[in-house]
Order: sequence, then structure tokens, then C-alpha cells
Amino acid sequence: MPISVGVAGAAGRMGATVCKAVEGADDLLLAGRADPALGVALADILGDVDVVVDFTQPDQATANALACVEAGVHVVIGTSSFDLEPLRGATGANVFFAPNFAIGAVLMMRFAAEASRIMAKAEIIELHHDGKLDAPSGTAARTAEMMEGDVPIHSVRLPGLVAHQEVILGDVGQTLTIRHDSIDRQSFMPGVLLAIRKVGSLTESPVVGLEHLLFER
Ligand SMILES: NC(=O)c1ccc[n+]([C@@H]2O[C@H](COP(=O)([O-])OP(=O)(O)OC[C@H]3O[C@@H](n4cnc5c(N)ncnc54)[C@H](O)[C@@H]3O)[C@@H](O)[C@H]2O)c1
Repeated sequence: MPISVGVAGAAGRMGATVCKAVEGADDLLLAGRADPALGVALADILGDVDVVVDFTQPDQATANALACVEAGVHVVIGTSSFDLEPLRGATGANVFFAPNFAIGAVLMMRFAAEASRIMAKAEIIELHHDGKLDAPSGTAARTAEMMEGDVPIHSVRLPGLVAHQEVILGDVGQTLTIRHDSIDRQSFMPGVLLAIRKVGSLTESPVVGLEHLLFER
């Protein structure tokens, strides 16, 4: 039986890419597209789906995820900088959130955390397209959280960019730069599909970070 998937934010840049990726996967069925731009509310599709993927906006994702859990529908959240607190302790279905679904970004965060334990200081520069609503990005905030010491974040918003991040570490007479570039939204799709397949079998909820699905805990 394929997993029935609904996409919240289906008319957006990420949501439309997720819809195509789900349609292209043999074990998944795209059963609903919710977006005010399509005239379809999330509540209209909840009865038809096992999992919802939310790529909406920071002030919408918490309420969407609560509605999913209350309806017994698992939810995979990609939206940045939303409030996760109300979802802690919510029971009925599982919640998975990744600040970044690109495998290279997950590795970048891991390497930066490791390097910060050895090098003296670090700063982060995150660069995104100018349609991005939040700053700093969720990825940069999460990277800084994983690193040792106080790590300042600088945000750049320009047309032409997709999602990029540089972690620069400095020590006596040397610097180390760890950089990741998502040059196409396809970079996020393997991670999103993995999360859709695994969210139903999580043994705790919410789980934050693709690393928990990729590596041994
Ligand atoms: N986690 C990741 O790997 C990752 C990667 C890229 C983008 N993002 C984040 O994903 C989010 C979406 O990015 P985007 O570039 O696709 O934005 P976008 O503005 O192109 O799309 C957002 C869509 O959500 C719709 N929407 C708004 N409120 C809604 C609601 N209540 N229910 C359903 N749909 C609703 C909007 O109409 C719009 O079509 C942003 O927060 C962005 O930062 C995360």
C-alpha cells in the first residue's frame, strides 16, 4: 500500500517541488494539495492522507502541525523558524522537523560542530534568495546551536541565490571555511522523501534534524 501524502504550501517554491517528487515515487501517492493560493485548506485534505509535508511560512506551520496531529496524521515540517514548543507532548501522530533536508547541509553542520571544538572562534554567513521571510535561517541557527562558543550569524538576501551557508573558523595564522550550496531545490527532495517514509515509525516525537534518520543515534 502506498503512503498517502498531502502537501501544505503546495503552490509554493518548495511545495510544488515536493508534489513532483512524491508523484515520481512508486511507494507514495500524492493525495492532497493544500494552499490558500489553490483555494484548498489543510482541513479539506486531512481525511485523505497518512502524512502531511508542510512547507508554508513561519506563522502558519505550528497551527498546521497541531491540526495534523489532532487528526492522527503524521507531519513532516520543512518550514523555517516556526514555534515547535506547542508540539512537544502532542500525541496522536508523529512530528518530524528538519531545518535543512539537504544531505550536504547536514554534513556541513556536523563538520562545523566538530571543528568548533578545536578552533578558537567561528562566524556563519548564510545566503538565501530574497523571497525568504525569516533571518537568520533555521539552518544557521541550528548550526550555531550545535557549535561550541558564541557564533555570530550574518544574513544575505539576494535574487539569484537559493540556499547557501559558509562557516568560517579562525585560529592563529589560519582559517577553515566549510561551505554548502543548494543550487537547486531538488537537493532537498531525497531528505523529504526519506522523512515521509520514516515519520510513521518514529519512537519519539517531535524529532528534529535529518541526522536522526540518516545516522545511528
Ligand atoms: N527545511 C528545508 O530544507 C527548507 C528548504 C527550503 C525552504 N525551506 C522553508 O520552507 C518554507 C517555504 O519556502 P518556499 O520558498 O516554498 O516559500 P513560498 O512562499 O514559495 O511558499 C509558501 C506557500 O505556502 C502557502 N501557505 C501559506 N499559508 C498556508 C497555510 N496555512 N496552509 C497551506 N499553505 C499555506 C503560500 O500560499 C505559499 O504558496 C520557508 O519557511 C523556507 O524557509 C526549508
